[in-house]
Amino acid sequence: NVSCDFSITCPQCLVQMSRIIISCKILLITGVMITPGICEGYLLKRRKWPLKGWHKRYFVLEGGTLRYSKSHQDVSRGRVQGSLDVSLAVMSINKKSNRIDLDTGDILYHIKVNVLNKCCAKQRNSVSSYLNDKCYVFPPQRQRVMTSSTFGMNKLITNLIILLFTYLEASTTRKYRASISRTPNNFVPKSTGRRTALPAHCPDNSHVGLMAILYNNIGKDLARVSMPAALNEPVNLLQRLCEELEYSELLDVANNTPDPYQRMVYIAAFAISGYTTATFRNRYKPFNPVLGETYECIREDRGFRFISEQVCHHPPISACHAESENFTFWQDQRWKNKFWGKSLEILPTGMVNVTLSRYGDHYEWNKVVTCIHNVLSQQRYLEHYGEVTIQNLKNSTCTCKITFVKSRYWGSDTNKNEVQGTVLDQGGSVIHRFGGLWHEGIFCDTLPTPKCIWKPNSQPKDYLQFYGFSTFAMELNELTPDLRPFLPPTDTRLRPDQRMLEEGNVSGADRKKDEIEELQRERRKELAKKGSEHTPRFFRKAKDSSGRDVWLNTGTYWELRQNPGFAKLENITLW
Ligand SMILES: *[C@@H]1O[C@H](CO)[C@@H](O)[C@H](O)[C@H]1NC(C)=O
Ligand SMILES: *[C@@H]1O[C@H](CO)[C@@H](O)[C@H](O)[C@H]1NC(C)=O
Ligand SMILES: *[C@@H]1O[C@H](CO)[C@@H](O)[C@H](O)[C@H]1NC(C)=O
Ligand SMILES: *[C@@H]1O[C@H](CO)[C@@H](O)[C@H](O)[C@H]1NC(C)=O
Ligand SMILES: *[C@@H]1O[C@H](CO)[C@@H](O)[C@H](O)[C@H]1NC(C)=O
Repeated sequence: NVSCDFSITCPQCLVQMSRIIISCKILLITGVMITPGICEGYLLKRRKWPLKGWHKRYFVLEGGTLRYSKSHQDVSRGRVQGSLDVSLAVMSINKKSNRIDLDTGDILYHIKVNVLNKCCAKQRNSVSSYLNDKCYVFPPQRQRVMTSSTFGMNKLITNLIILLFTYLEASTTRKYRASISRTPNNFVPKSTGRRTALPAHCPDNSHVGLMAILYNNIGKDLARVSMPAALNEPVNLLQRLCEELEYSELLDVANNTPDPYQRMVYIAAFAISGYTTATFRNRYKPFNPVLGETYECIREDRGFRFISEQVCHHPPISACHAESENFTFWQDQRWKNKFWGKSLEILPTGMVNVTLSRYGDHYEWNKVVTCIHNVLSQQRYLEHYGEVTIQNLKNSTCTCKITFVKSRYWGSDTNKNEVQGTVLDQGGSVIHRFGGLWHEGIFCDTLPTPKCIWKPNSQPKDYLQFYGFSTFAMELNELTPDLRPFLPPTDTRLRPDQRMLEEGNVSGADRKKDEIEELQRERRKELAKKGSEHTPRFFRKAKDSSGRDVWLNTGTYWELRQNPGFAKLENITLW
C-alpha cells in the first residue's frame, strides 16, 4: 500500500497522485490492480468563477475517488465541496507548471503545486524524469491506456478535433433540453414568403465515429484529412455570422429608446440573443468557408442588409458588416481553441461593434467562451461562460456587464445556461438588473414596467429533422431564381457541396467537398509560387487604436452589385 501526504510545495505529490490515477484507470480497464493507495493533503485548485484564481483546498484521493473540501476539518466533518471518479476522467500533466488537468467531460479540474526553491534538487529531478514520461490516459471506454509511447497522438488528436469542431459556435445542451417546451412568443411571425422547410431531412450521422476518423488518419497530413459531409449542416460560418442578427429587432428598439440606460438593456439582450440561435444544434457543424467565399443577405422585412467574406485562411477569419436605417453591425470573427481530452474550449478573440443612428452610440463588446463538453461522444452539449462588458465608445454615461454563469456542479441543472447582467452608471451604481437563461429569455424587473425583454422565437415544425434549425436559419441558404443573377459567383448559396447536402445527396456532397478543398490548396500553391497573397475583395486589413489587426468593410459590395453587376466583373473560381 502506497500512501502519501500532499503538500502545496511538493511536486512529488502530483507524481504520486498521477500514478494512483493511472492505477485506477488500469484497474478499471483490465481488472489488474497495480498500486492502490491513499493520498491526502493541501493542493491548489483553480477556480474560474466566481473569485477566479488558485485556491488552497484539502484533497483526498481514495478508492478511485478524488474529493476536496476547504480544510482538513471539513473533510473529517464530511463536508465535501466536490468529488470525481478519477478513472473516468482524462488526465493531462503539465510539467512546466506542475499542474494536473482532469477533464470529466462536465467539469475541468486544474490542480497544482507551488514548487519553492527550498524543494530539494533530488526531488525535482525525479519529478522531472517522471513527468518527461508524460502520460495521457484515455477514458476507459476506449479500452486503451495511452502511455508515453503513444503520446505523439495527443497533438494529432487535438488538431483533428479542432479541425472538426472549429468555430462550432452553436449553443446546445443535453438531449433532454429538446423536451423543454418553449413558450410561444407573443408575436406571431409574419409570412415572409420565404421557405419554411428544407428540401430534405438531415442525414443520420450517429454512425460517423469521430474516434474512428481520428485513428484512421494517424500519420496523414492534417490539412488533407477531409471530414465527412454528414457531420455538417447546410449553413456555413459566414451565414452563422448573419444568424447573430436573428433578433435584430432588439437593435431597432434600442435605436428608438431615448433613455440611455434602458437602451443599454436592449443592446445587452441583443448580445445574449446571439447565443441562442443553435440551442438544438449539437449534432452537426457548419461548413468552413473557403478563402474568398462571400455571403449576402438582404432582409427587406427586417430592414437590414448584410455581407460577409472569408478574409484569411491561417488563422481562419470571417468578417461581416450589416447596415439598416437603425443600426450598423460589424465584426471579424476568430478563435483560439483549447482541448482538454473530453472538452473543447473555444475562445473568441474579436470584438462585436454596433452603432445606432439616432444617438450616434458606438457599442463594443467581447464574446464569451464556449465549451463543447463530451466533444467525442453523442452526449455532446455546449456551455457558454465568462463575462461580457459592453461599452459605449461615444458616451461613457453607462456600461453594462453580463455574466454567463458556469454551472457549478454537474448533476445540478438549476443554474444551467444562466445569464445575469447589470447596467451601471458612470459612478458604478447599478441602474438596471436583468437575467434569465440564454435559451429561454431575459427578464428585466427594474424597468418602469418589469418585463421580458427577449424570448427566442418558437421552433418551426419538424425542426429536429431539419438540423435543429430555426425558421431564420432555414432561410439563410435559400436560393430563389430572382436572386440568382445578382449574386457574385463566390456566394455561399452557389457552393455545390453545401447545396447537395441540403438536398439530401450526402455522397455527392462528400465528393464535391473534397474537390473544393483540393481546389483551394491548388490556388494557395499557385499564389505561393508567385510569392503573392490573397487579397480580400470587400474588406481591408487595418490597425485599430490598440494596434490590433481589424478587417473593415470597403463599402463597395452594394455599389458593384448594382453597377456594373457581378456578372460583368472578374472573379475568382472557388468551385
Ligand atoms: C427602425 O426601428 C423602428 C422602431 O423599432 C421600426 O419601426 C422600423 O421599422 C425600423 N427600421 C427598419 C428599416 O427596420
Ligand atoms: C470595433 O470598434 C473599435 C472602435 O472603433 C475598434 O477598435 C475595433 O477594432 C472595432 N472592431 C472591428 C472588428 O472592426
Ligand atoms: C451622453 O449621454 C447623456 C445622456 O443621454 C447626454 O446627456 C450627454 O449629452 C451625452 N454626452 C455626449 C458627449 O454625447
Ligand atoms: C448526387 O450527386 C452526384 C454528383 O453530382 C450525382 O452524380 C448523383 O446522381 C446524385 N445523387 C442523387 C441521388 O441525386
Ligand atoms: C465571373 O462570373 C460570372 C458569373 O458566373 C461569369 O459570367 C464571368 O465570366 C466571370 N468572369 C470571369 C472573368 O471569369
